[in-house]
Order: sequence, then structure tokens, then C-alpha cells
Amino acid sequence: MSNRPLNVGLIGGGGGAFIVQPHQKAIHFDGTRRVMAAALHPDPKIALKEARNWAYPIKGYKSYDEMIAAQADLPEGERIDYALIVTPNFVHFDPAIKCIKAGIPVFCEKPLSLNLKEAKQLVDAVKKYKVPFGVAHTYLGHWTSRLARHIITSGLLGAVRWVDAYYLQGWLAGLTEKQGVMQAEWRVDPKRAGISCCGGDIGTHALMQLRYVTGLDVVATRGFLETFVKGRVLDDHFTTYNELSNGGKAIVRASQIATGHKNDLGIEVNGEKGTLVWRQEESDKLTILLPGQPDRIYWRGEVKENDGFLKKLPKGLLDEITIPSGHVEAFHDAFARLHRFFEEDVRAYLKGKKWTDDGSRYANVEDGRIGMAFIEAAVKSSKAGGRLVNWK
Ligand SMILES: NC(=O)c1ccc[n+]([C@@H]2O[C@H](COP(=O)([O-])OP(=O)(O)OC[C@H]3O[C@@H](n4cnc5c(N)ncnc54)[C@H](O)[C@@H]3O)[C@@H](O)[C@H]2O)c1
Repeated sequence: MSNRPLNVGLIGGGGGAFIVQPHQKAIHFDGTRRVMAAALHPDPKIALKEARNWAYPIKGYKSYDEMIAAQADLPEGERIDYALIVTPNFVHFDPAIKCIKAGIPVFCEKPLSLNLKEAKQLVDAVKKYKVPFGVAHTYLGHWTSRLARHIITSGLLGAVRWVDAYYLQGWLAGLTEKQGVMQAEWRVDPKRAGISCCGGDIGTHALMQLRYVTGLDVVATRGFLETFVKGRVLDDHFTTYNELSNGGKAIVRASQIATGHKNDLGIEVNGEKGTLVWRQEESDKLTILLPGQPDRIYWRGEVKENDGFLKKLPKGLLDEITIPSGHVEAFHDAFARLHRFFEEDVRAYLKGKKWTDDGSRYANVEDGRIGMAFIEAAVKSSKAGGRLVNWK
């Protein structure tokens, strides 16, 4: 294969959709990937019209079924090299499984699926077909998340005792779903969102951040799902108390009624020797608190080995920086880093390498399944008054 750009096919993304926009910008960040085809909308006429009106030339399809069938028959180089699924949760499983069976790698939005049953089927299909499969847990793509993972998993702060992982938003503090906001309409509908609104939508991000940064798993959960806005069926506030695989404890919480909060995702990890603090709204910065010492603030890229705290850095970590520190990286860069890692795996797959992934660079299908299992455990526990549910 030459160094031609990889071709990406969008599933979803028309009609004023949200997350397709950061993705398609991130896809184009490096000049090594491009959006080339799309099934943008469930209505075939709208899908074709929106593809014709797309900002740059793409091949439009009436449906994702049509796109997958047509693309799978094209020779390599002319067909899509991976599909990006940016539809609501209830339209993740069907296109994903069809792509896997057609040998098309998938980068899928979170939560992985509508329910755990679908998630398990996707894990099995990926195992069978060995097709690259990423899940868009955006915040793993921040360079500082990667440094944080190194600091905790290499034991620089000692054993993890307590973690607070949170995602606070305020945009559903009123009946946003009745105000013509399509993103809110499907998120509060169990048929389209799944058994949890707040937990599934953003609690899964907080869980993934915890698992990624600490390298630990959640093994048991007490869940408390609450609905503050009258007229809603699903939760808009989600709190869980958890036991970790090393015996530590964690709170994983999310809220969509945290008035005034925007996208306040963050993590605090208390280890035996010190604490790590990170917030995505100031994502180029990572703070380390050590007893009896001034706080250490690490800016993306401004790190050195053997500085009195950091020791040997992971190979290649400093090479992952795209712009000097102080020129701020943020949400789009995080997405771009995930697509960049996924691109490497897709290129290897195109050369005949069977896909396996340890989840150290982007969330994979197993991470997606764990997210769904966590939501099921939290809902089960909440219905039982917060009883501890062992789920690992
Ligand atoms: N990773 C993140 O940070 C992040 C942020 C926001 C949303 N998301 C996830 O992304 C997904 C989409 O969320 P959104 O807020 O962009 O939703 P949205 O409502 O803005 O967009 C959904 C898109 O899917 C399309 N669609 C629906 N059914 C389809 C079908 N059968 N065929 C083709 N297209 C179809 C719609 O036309 C629309 O273009 C959700 O799963 C959500 O959880 C992730």
C-alpha cells in the first residue's frame, strides 16, 4: 500500500448532527485520512441531498446498508478503509456488526450499544473476524491522559486508594428535549438511548477515564440513578460507589442537571504517596500533589525524565506532541490522536495483520462492553436501593 490517505465512511452525521463535526475535522488533521463516503441520515432523500451539499466532495448513499454493500465490493484504495459510526445509541449495533462481517474496520461512538447483549455480540464478532474496532472515548486522546496513565500505572504515586471520576453538565437542567434540541430528544428516550440517559451518555466516559488512567477495573458497584426534571423517564443524575480490582474504592459520577457546568469531566486519583488531578476543561495541564512539597503542574510537553518526580518516560510519548506547549491542544486534538492511533492499526490490518489491541491507545470493543456492563450493574443496584452488585 502506498502512503495514500485512508478513506473513511460516515454512518450518521446529517441534519445538524453534533459529534460528526469534531470527528470529521480530526479525521482531516494529518492529511493521512479523509472522509470519502457517507450515509448521513435515516431518510434516503435527505441522506443523498446532504451528501451532495457536504463541504467537500463525498459519495453519498441512501442508507448504511447500501454503503456497506457497495463499499465492500470495491477494490482496496477505492473503498472505505474504516467506518465511523456517529448515530444515536440504538443505531450502533446494526451498522457495526454489518461492517465487521464485511471486513470493514469500525470506529464507533460510545456507549458501544443500546444494551449489554448487543455489546457481547460485538465483542464476539470482533474476536471472530479480527477487524480493528475502536470506541470514541474522546478524553483518552489527550496527551495529559496518556501521561497520567503512565504516572499511575508505573506506581509513581503508590497504590491507588481512592478515585473520584466525574462528568458534570448542566444542559438537561430543564426540559431541553421539549425545545426542539434533537440531541436531547433521543438521549431521554429509553428506546433510543438505552436503560440510562446520564450514566450511559457521560457516566461511561468517567468510567473509561478511571480505567484508562489507573489501569484498574471496577469489580462491584452501588448505583443511585436519579431523575430531577419532572416528565423524564430516565436518569439525569448518576452516582456510583465502586470497588476496584486492587481493593481501592472509587466514586464514578455524572450529572446533566449540574447547572452552569459545561463539559466538566475530571479525575482525581489518591495514591499512597500523592494525588493526581486532571480536568478536561484545562486539558493541557496535569497536577500532582505530594505531601510537604509545592504542587507540581505538568503542561503538555513540558516534562523531563528524572526531575525529582518523573522517572523514565514511555518510549515515544514526547513524539506524540503535535504543537509546542502553550499553544493549547483540546477536544479536536484528542479526537485526532485517537484517529491517528486507529489509522496505524487499520494500515497494519490492510497489510494482512490480524487485529489485537490492548486498549492502551484508544478504547476498544471490550472497553465498550465493560461500559455497558457497568451501566447494567448500576441500574440493577439502583433498583435494589443501592445494593452492592458484583459484576466482574
Ligand atoms: N465521544 C464524545 O465525546 C461524544 C459526544 C457527543 C455524542 N457522542 C455519541 O455520538 C453519538 C451521536 O450523538 P450526537 O450528539 O452527535 O447525535 P445527533 O442527534 O446530533 O446526530 C445523530 C446523527 O445520526 C443520524 N442517524 C440516525 N439514524 C440514522 C440511520 N439509520 N442512518 C444514518 N444516519 C442516522 C442522524 O441523522 C444524525 O445525523 C451518540 O452515540 C452519542 O452518545 C459522543
